[in-house]
Amino acid sequence: MPSVTPAEHLAEVLDRYDGSPTPRLAEITKALIRHLHEFVAEVGLTREEWFAGVQALTRTGHMCDGQRQEFILLSDTLGVSMLVEMINHAAAEGTTEPTVFGPFHVDGAPRREMGESIAADPTGAGEPLVITGTVRDLRGRPVEGAELDVWQAAPNGLYDVQDQQQTPMNLRGVFTTSADGAYEIRTVRPAAYPIPGDGPAGELLFANGRHNWRPAHVHFVVSAAGHKTVITHLFDSTSDYLDSDAVFGVRDSLIVDMSGGACAYDFVLEALD
Ligand code: BEZ
Ligand code: FE
Repeated sequence: MPSVTPAEHLAEVLDRYDGSPTPRLAEITKALIRHLHEFVAEVGLTREEWFAGVQALTRTGHMCDGQRQEFILLSDTLGVSMLVEMINHAAAEGTTEPTVFGPFHVDGAPRREMGESIAADPTGAGEPLVITGTVRDLRGRPVEGAELDVWQAAPNGLYDVQDQQQTPMNLRGVFTTSADGAYEIRTVRPAAYPIPGDGPAGELLFANGRHNWRPAHVHFVVSAAGHKTVITHLFDSTSDYLDSDAVFGVRDSLIVDMSGGACAYDFVLEALD
C-alpha cells in the first residue's frame, strides 16, 4: 500500500493551487490538473509514453513561427477549436451557424465592389463561381452596410500566404451589402485541400488512421454595426470529406449547392440590444 494514493496526491496538488489571486485562472488551472491526472490514471500512462508526449509537444513548439501555428492545428484536429466556438458563439435559433476561423485569415484584405472578383491570379483549372445572397436580421430585415470578409484557398489547395506563386491577397476581399442587404461575389469554385500534415498534428492524425483533408469551402466573417459577428464557411455540397473534415467544422446548414457556376446563401445575424 503506497503511503500516498493517487487521489491524495491529486488533492495535495489542487490544494497548492488554492491561493491564486485570480479566481478564473485558479478555476482553469485546477480543472486542467484534475483532467490531466484522471487522463494519466485512466490510460495507465507509462514513463515512455509520457516522454513521447513531452517530445511531441516540444516539436509542436519548435514548428511555430510567424507563419505556422502548430499548437492551433493540434487544437483544431483534436476538435478543441470547434468546441470553443460552440461554447462561446452558439448560434441563436435561426441565425447563421459559426464554424472554425482557421489560421489563414489576413487582416486588411482589399475592399471589393458588388460583383467584383476576388481572384487576383489566373484561376487555372478552377470553375468560375458567383456567390449571391443577402445579410438579414432574425426578423428578416435586410442589413445595409454589412461587411463580408471572404477568403479561400486557390484551386491548387493552397492559400496565398502558403504559396509564393500567388499574388498576395489572391482570393480575398471585403464586400459591403447594399440597401436591400444584398451581396455578390465572383470567385472560383473552392477545392478540398489538406491542412499542413508535416508536423506533430499531422503525425498524430496519420498515426490514428485519420486524414488531414478539409472539404471544399469559402470562409466568411460577416459583421454589421449593432449585430453579432459570425465567423463561418460555406461548404460545397459535392465535396469529398464533408463527413470527415480534419477539423470538425462542417455543419449541415452551411452546405450549399455550388454547381452550375452559382451559389446562393442568406446570412442571418443576431441584432445586439
Ligand atoms: C482553414 O479552413 O483554413 C483551416 C482551418 C483549420 C486548420 C487549418 C486550416
Ligand atoms: Fe480554409
